[in-house]
Amino acid sequence: MKRSEINQAIRSGERFFVSRGFSLPAWAAWVPERWPGMRADADELDRVHLGWDITDFGSGDYPRRGLLLFTMRNGLVGSKGKTYAEKAMIVGVDQETPTHFHDAKMEDIINRGGGELVLQLWNSDADAGLAKSTVEVRVDGIRRNLPAGGSVRLSPGESICLEPRLYHRFWGERERVLVGEVSMVNDDVGDNHFLENVGRFPAIEEDEAPWRLLVSDYPQWITD
Ligand SMILES: [Fe+2]
Repeated sequence: MKRSEINQAIRSGERFFVSRGFSLPAWAAWVPERWPGMRADADELDRVHLGWDITDFGSGDYPRRGLLLFTMRNGLVGSKGKTYAEKAMIVGVDQETPTHFHDAKMEDIINRGGGELVLQLWNSDADAGLAKSTVEVRVDGIRRNLPAGGSVRLSPGESICLEPRLYHRFWGERERVLVGEVSMVNDDVGDNHFLENVGRFPAIEEDEAPWRLLVSDYPQWITD
């Protein structure tokens, strides 16, 4: 992705968060020049990957296939400390997050306002393919059975619990959606299994200066 495209998505995302009355940590608005020299105090952010994250899943077409995320809290797999994570995400109309499951993470996906969030669901089989079996999920704690590949539509306030190895893809309808995620520890490097071979972390073409740092920028910017 071009840095200019990332900057524009974050600027637009910041306005959307404000419009929905959703406030981020103070450092979400720090300019890149605030970060050098912060390693002693801000090391947790780099260690557990808190902050801005954006992906086009390698599509080259962010509006059609992409996701803007902000991770507010997280822990590390297999270590003491936080066993939980929380994110806010912005999902555009017909902007797809492609089919994937998580090996270990159970997550609640919450529509926190805006349009509708539609999720298409399948069980996975032993070979990590799409199973044909009936999908049993809980929507706000209420059990619901779906055929393989069936959809759940979440209106603002509604949520779904996605268990490990349950395949899901999702997109927004009607208008942009503010989506919350409350989950077990999040490990985007090792725990995501995509059905297709997609890229989770885009290569960045630096065509202008960053507006905000991404999690993937921290090693370069957060210095002693
Ligand atoms: Fe997921």
